[in-house]
Amino acid sequence: MALPNNDIGDEAREVLSAQAHIWNHTFNFISSMSLKCAIQLGIPDIIHRHGRAMTLSDLVNALSINKSRGQDSIYRLMRILIHAGFFIEEEEGYLLTPSSRLLLKDEPNNLSMIPFIQMILDPIMMDPWHYLSQWIQNGGTSPFATTHGKHIFEYAEKEPKFNRLFNEAMAGDARLVMSVLIQNGKGVFEGLKSLVDVAGGTGTVAKAIAEAFPQINCTVLDLPHVIEGLEGSKNLSYVGGDMFNSIPSADAVVLKSVLLDWEDEDCIKILKKCKEAIPNKENGGKVIIIDMVPIDHNDDNKSYETQLFYDMLMMVAVSGKQKREQEWAKFFYDAGFSDYNIIPILGLRCVIEVYP
Ligand SMILES: C[S@@+](CC[C@H](N)C(=O)[O-])C[C@H]1O[C@@H](n2cnc3c(N)ncnc32)[C@H](O)[C@@H]1O
Repeated sequence: MALPNNDIGDEAREVLSAQAHIWNHTFNFISSMSLKCAIQLGIPDIIHRHGRAMTLSDLVNALSINKSRGQDSIYRLMRILIHAGFFIEEEEGYLLTPSSRLLLKDEPNNLSMIPFIQMILDPIMMDPWHYLSQWIQNGGTSPFATTHGKHIFEYAEKEPKFNRLFNEAMAGDARLVMSVLIQNGKGVFEGLKSLVDVAGGTGTVAKAIAEAFPQINCTVLDLPHVIEGLEGSKNLSYVGGDMFNSIPSADAVVLKSVLLDWEDEDCIKILKKCKEAIPNKENGGKVIIIDMVPIDHNDDNKSYETQLFYDMLMMVAVSGKQKREQEWAKFFYDAGFSDYNIIPILGLRCVIEVYP
């Protein structure tokens, strides 16, 4: 990190630059918290409804806030969010960027990322980060379990509010991913007559497939407390159960954001159960994984960093981890699959087709 200290010696410059680096990382949480604040205040929605660039005073007037502090605090909040790329400021005022368009409550294509941010930045998910070193020292399932006394999925079963928060976050992510996949990766679902979305949450992935491909009968398997009260449709049904015990038979199994949640042996167990549920390769059987395959850090530094963040999140929240391509391949072969194909059409994530 370079600072304009030309009149000082190299040693002093180095120590100041190191301090600035440390400050930057220490303050990193301020980015997330500023984003959370903007969402809580509904700033993206207000600018969107305004329909054109919005001045600071118009924004302050439109917000339900204490007006004596408003002008100054909103100016400073907007300044950091402009720096982070969430808004742009033109002479006439503030405008949304593609990122803040995904922060609208009623995003026109139903792709709002608000539920995901609300879940990740909720104190229930944030508190375990304070126990990371304690967990590394003492062991245990995960920092989440150290903090809350239960694995995240058991916690969700006991705490309906968190269950809803978690499921809505996953559904929001699933809507976005499926909107891209269905437009750009139709071939993945071609020829299938049935499919089961394993650990499919409240069924957003399966619903998107069922609507886009009415000839495919879709089943969602998840824990009973997740699918409780959900109603299917002509080609969509819900089954409550445990994927470690049994998976309903189908031409294909979908696993979106599932295997990164688990340790290696559990991943192999899940994949073996998937293999039992599908026909052989000649009869079109396959597992469709939607998840991360980390890129090399030289390719795109920001995406690399986001993938490292995600890996840490898996460690803290669920005792899972990121898997490089060689590790994915080993799981597939250890679980008895013969081949796989990675289709990189989902940004930070990929589709991996795995064949028996
Ligand atoms: C990270 S979420 C992914 C949800 C969904 N696939 C998606 O991407 O939107 C993991 C899901 O695994 C489910 N799950 C955890 N353990 C399970 C089990 N033993 N059997 C079935 N589902 C399970 C959780 O309830 C949760 O819905």
